[in-house]
Amino acid sequence: MTHKIIIDTDPGIDDAMAIFYAALHPDIDIVGMTGVFGNVTADIAARNAIVLAERVKQTIPVAKGANAPLVIAPNGVSDYVHGTEGFGTMPAQSITGQPLDEPAHEFICRMINEHQNEIILCPIGPLTNIAMALEHDPSIAAKTKAVYIMGGGLDKGNVTEHAEANIWNDPHAADIVFAADWDITMVGLDVTTRVQCSPADFDRIGASTPIIGGFLNEAVQFYFDFYASHYGKRGCDMHDPTAIIAITDPQYFIIETHALEVIVEGARSGQTVRSTDPSRPKHKVPMDVDAKGVKQRFLSMIETGF
Ligand code: BDR
Ligand code: CA
Repeated sequence: MTHKIIIDTDPGIDDAMAIFYAALHPDIDIVGMTGVFGNVTADIAARNAIVLAERVKQTIPVAKGANAPLVIAPNGVSDYVHGTEGFGTMPAQSITGQPLDEPAHEFICRMINEHQNEIILCPIGPLTNIAMALEHDPSIAAKTKAVYIMGGGLDKGNVTEHAEANIWNDPHAADIVFAADWDITMVGLDVTTRVQCSPADFDRIGASTPIIGGFLNEAVQFYFDFYASHYGKRGCDMHDPTAIIAITDPQYFIIETHALEVIVEGARSGQTVRSTDPSRPKHKVPMDVDAKGVKQRFLSMIETGF
């Protein structure tokens, strides 16, 4: 079975890992990508999505999306984690293609309406474009096959003690997305922080597939520097690829179901919590993972590249 996916992304080093995994997977067809602010600005996000598509030799439509959250003042880009151009110390990469004229949220709505019950949305950045799409055409919730989000977490935060970065960057958007009645799997820090790669893992894929793995190995050094200075260990969490691997390999995840809501102000802003509101739909929340299985799946897929 082929999964038709739209990746909503802020590339971003682990976004690049996720996009290469999806592009190389024989059962995934990336039918579009949409750029959003987060790790980088929306302009850089759209450009970097095209950089990644061209590097993996695929023609994928890319639409530019929101450059700021719906309500809160922007927190600022995460250049200290991903580098000023998104891929560590690499300078801006040139591209042949261009983003579509259509804004991201309209592209998402059009694609879902043209391919009803076929599209899986994979947001791996702040949820602003997805919330704007829901507000533009609320009927998309019933026409979307599934939504796999990298974001949130029930037991931990990363950018604050309580909040995960993608949700913290636009908590109001995330709350709109979790309030909608569609099939969401929230792949959060509960599982993504358990899937970790080391410099040796990236050296190996860099040597075996210089164009794809080599690009990741060059970009990830900056990410390793961040982890070394913040967590005292040279390595990294595989946040965004884990969300895509949850689509292709659900057997690696132990999933609970919870209604979810997002705290939108105060010290806990951006925290995802279990909701007691009976009107809220229940969503899937992986709470445990076969981390070795997911990591191996990622590394072996990249090694099918070039
Ligand atoms: C998430 O935040 C971003 O920095 C990463 O790309 C990932 O999507 C992890 O909290
Ligand atoms: Ca991301």
